[in-house]
Amino acid sequence: MQKPTVRCGIVGAGFSASFHFEALQKVHGTNVDIVGVFAKERGDEYAQRRGIAQFDSLEALLDEVDVVHVCTPPVVHEAITIAALERDKFAICEKPLTGYFGDGSDTFHGDTFPKQEALNFALASIDRMLAAEKKSKGRILYAENWVYAPAIQKEREILEKTGGQVLWMHGEEAHSGSHAHTYAYWKFSGGGVMIGKGCHPLTAALYLKRVEGRTRNGKPIRPRAVSARTHAITRLEGFRDEGHIRADYYDIDDFSLMHVVFEDGTLADIFASDIVLGGIHNWLEVNANNHRVICNINPNTAMQAYNPVEANFKDIYVVEKIGTKQGWSCPSPDEDWFTGYPQEIEAFYRAISRGEPVESDSRLAADCISTIYSAYVSAEQNGREVAVKAF
Ligand SMILES: NC(=O)c1ccc[n+]([C@@H]2O[C@H](COP(=O)([O-])OP(=O)(O)OC[C@H]3O[C@@H](n4cnc5c(N)ncnc54)[C@H](O)[C@@H]3O)[C@@H](O)[C@H]2O)c1
Repeated sequence: MQKPTVRCGIVGAGFSASFHFEALQKVHGTNVDIVGVFAKERGDEYAQRRGIAQFDSLEALLDEVDVVHVCTPPVVHEAITIAALERDKFAICEKPLTGYFGDGSDTFHGDTFPKQEALNFALASIDRMLAAEKKSKGRILYAENWVYAPAIQKEREILEKTGGQVLWMHGEEAHSGSHAHTYAYWKFSGGGVMIGKGCHPLTAALYLKRVEGRTRNGKPIRPRAVSARTHAITRLEGFRDEGHIRADYYDIDDFSLMHVVFEDGTLADIFASDIVLGGIHNWLEVNANNHRVICNINPNTAMQAYNPVEANFKDIYVVEKIGTKQGWSCPSPDEDWFTGYPQEIEAFYRAISRGEPVESDSRLAADCISTIYSAYVSAEQNGREVAVKAF
């Protein structure tokens, strides 16, 4: 059978634009024509290195493609995604889908504004995006790689084949701090670590309860309420900086905990932090009525290495955000694969070219955003339970 061809464009030329490009090289079910890139900065460098065209505007890129990869800071996800949908194009949107980015004033500060405003704004932003999707021939494909990580997909299979009931989960995404300069500011990121990293394990947990619900009753089990705490430990006056942890955050949280209650009364506890040494720490444990799994996304022990001399491994990539390569480590033989990047992009191109359903869609993304901004309202009140609007 001849493979269908899909033309795509990348928006953004930073970290995520790089791993999207890598994943596109591995798509096997669809012929992908990577037409070009549009980015506010360094688009020329990105284009040259990859032998693709550079576009001067989003509109010019959209004219030439069927789908855009939204690899920009969250503050512009809504505008770019809606621009694509209005032209009947697909949008593969990086996490988090959308959010609240302040009131535009010079005095805006993430610590002090009323968090209910953020929740209201984020819910309205979701409504606008879902309305644009409804009118469009294109769709929002939500780039939450945790949904496609092999360990999470194996748990999907277990839930579907055993009809298991998930009773409680706990999970975490953490490392020593994001590389992106803009991440330090609520006005670009829409929040701190609770949204930036917490969205990953949270969405995986929301996804698994959906799978459970659709398997047994044909409809997802949705989040009902959340209690949360957030902290800014690297901004404490007494924090003693020894240079291992990023510590230049302006107005965001660097530690968070969400306690999510689903509509059937079951639970998920989600940690996220920017203050963990030893490499990225991404895992989700699922405790069901008929099994228990621990999904180790990173680190995992597919490979363990002992290196007596740091310099020996100078040209060897070990694992994301590892501080040292000396001593014992867990090199990931194919980190992108364990993380779910190629599987996610493969699934999205099958959805575009063959109309296949996607596991990570706009409703899942919407539930994630709604839960997180409700969690910020809760954290403002030191953990009072707040209702979650599910989509
Ligand atoms: N799924 C993951 O594992 C993962 C990892 C890192 C980042 N992300 C997400 O990817 C997105 C981008 O993060 P990043 O780390 O790549 O950031 P980055 O700072 O490395 O790159 C952002 C790029 O967007 C461009 N840009 C900014 N505003 C723009 C606009 N209005 N139009 C066009 N281009 C614009 C910048 O010039 C830059 O090239 C964020 O939403 C982030 O949460 C996801």
